[in-house]
Amino acid sequence: MEGPSTMFSLFASFLFIFVLFKTFIKFLVSKRQHLPLPPGSMGYPYIGETFQMYSQDPNVFFATKIKRYGSMFKSHILGCPCVMISSPEAAKFVLNKSHLFKPTFPASKERMLGKQAIFFHQGEYHSNLRRLVLRTFMPEAIKNIVPSIESIAQDCIKSWEGREITTFLEMKTFTFNVALLSIFGKEEVLYRDDLKRCYYTLEKGYNSMPINLLGTLFHKAMKARKELAQIVAQIISRRRQGNQDYKDLLGSFMEEKAGLTDEQIADNVIGVIFAARDTTASVLTWIVKYLCENPSVLQAVTEEQESILKSKKENEEKGLNWEDAKKMQITSRVIQETLRVASILSFTFREAVEDVEYQGHLIPKGWKVLPLFRNIHHSPDNFKEPEKFDPSRFEAAPKPNTFMPFGSGIHACPGNELAKLEMLVLLHHLTTKYRWSMEGAKNGIQYGPFALPQNGLPITLYSKN
Ligand code: HEM
Repeated sequence: MEGPSTMFSLFASFLFIFVLFKTFIKFLVSKRQHLPLPPGSMGYPYIGETFQMYSQDPNVFFATKIKRYGSMFKSHILGCPCVMISSPEAAKFVLNKSHLFKPTFPASKERMLGKQAIFFHQGEYHSNLRRLVLRTFMPEAIKNIVPSIESIAQDCIKSWEGREITTFLEMKTFTFNVALLSIFGKEEVLYRDDLKRCYYTLEKGYNSMPINLLGTLFHKAMKARKELAQIVAQIISRRRQGNQDYKDLLGSFMEEKAGLTDEQIADNVIGVIFAARDTTASVLTWIVKYLCENPSVLQAVTEEQESILKSKKENEEKGLNWEDAKKMQITSRVIQETLRVASILSFTFREAVEDVEYQGHLIPKGWKVLPLFRNIHHSPDNFKEPEKFDPSRFEAAPKPNTFMPFGSGIHACPGNELAKLEMLVLLHHLTTKYRWSMEGAKNGIQYGPFALPQNGLPITLYSKN
């Protein structure tokens, strides 16, 4: 039997350890609070340096700051104090320590996409969604939809033949249809027009002032969002009445084990369309431009694609398959180099959930942290002659953490395999059957919000025949 004195000494030891632990934590916290902030300037009260950043190319703003203060600096943008980072190690640190840094978006964007969409979450809810999304977009699953992607690509390109098109707008149609295919399977054609009408109204309001008054773009976008959710709800209810097993994303979300409500499913369907469409369409637009500007690269890609076409004809095979896509090594390097040079997502946002010490500096709780992908991809320390478009540089693997077009860590892009596959399929048909010329101004970048060639790259497309 333990006597009262043993109990007391046990209690006293616990108390001692507890007090010691608290003192240690306090010491750490106070030590952190005395750490210096990263170098940099905060600009004017409230507006900070927002005007300096947006009155020029934001990348020039970042490059000037990096030259002056080094790879980590503070600033004040859009009403928020922030730390910008441009070293591969720091970017990896921020993106992989999800317990220290959480994703952050303006409240109006959360409302528009749906508060329960994957991007805005951490923890169990996020990992459940991620499992469901990854399952649908992993190579083993998307192998099966190559023929359907190919038929979407063929239909789109055929409609461009012999006329001047705005590349980005047409690529958006292609990537939108592929996104719907991955979400709703072959049934997507039934809903394509309605979903397209609503989604295009939604996007018009996405970057507008968040004023929800009758007549404003924001109001129209919120209305369209509601209608989108209703269409998804109807599709869900129709599927519940049948007894079919669906292998698409909606099927994955609807699985009983997934435990998602209809509202959560709708938010994530809209979220995936948002993540999948403009990103992939912007990259494709840049590829069309770079191929046109680099005839020897275009020639190498065309030869690679023609040899695949030839082997198909010899074996009397119809259409592309997953194995063909794996053979497209030169085209894949063109995609990688475009992802690097164009860096369509110049940076992303995180928020420090507590005071964080990084390399002797304090990142205070609540501050935004921006890993600058574009600056990492354009640093001569990471890529020789970074401004040069040279796909052959990817014959060797880049240094660790220097190439992150799809992000890193638990929020890294789960759609990257699908994005690469759909680009390969489209490029196969474009280079083997067509040639094109660029119209109008050939230089200049616009941000909307992804980096894009000026005016969406007008081109004229001709059939080689
Ligand atoms: C070339 C095209 C694409 C690029 C460059 C791209 C890039 C990215 C990046 C950088 C992130 C991480 C953002 C962050 O950490 O803040 C991300 C997340 C995401 N992407 Fe992509 N993406 C592309 C295409 C796609 C496609 C085709 C899909 C779906 C089919 C998709 C679905 C998603 C989703 C759902 C997330 C959120 C993941 C999470 O929060 O866990 N993306 N993407």
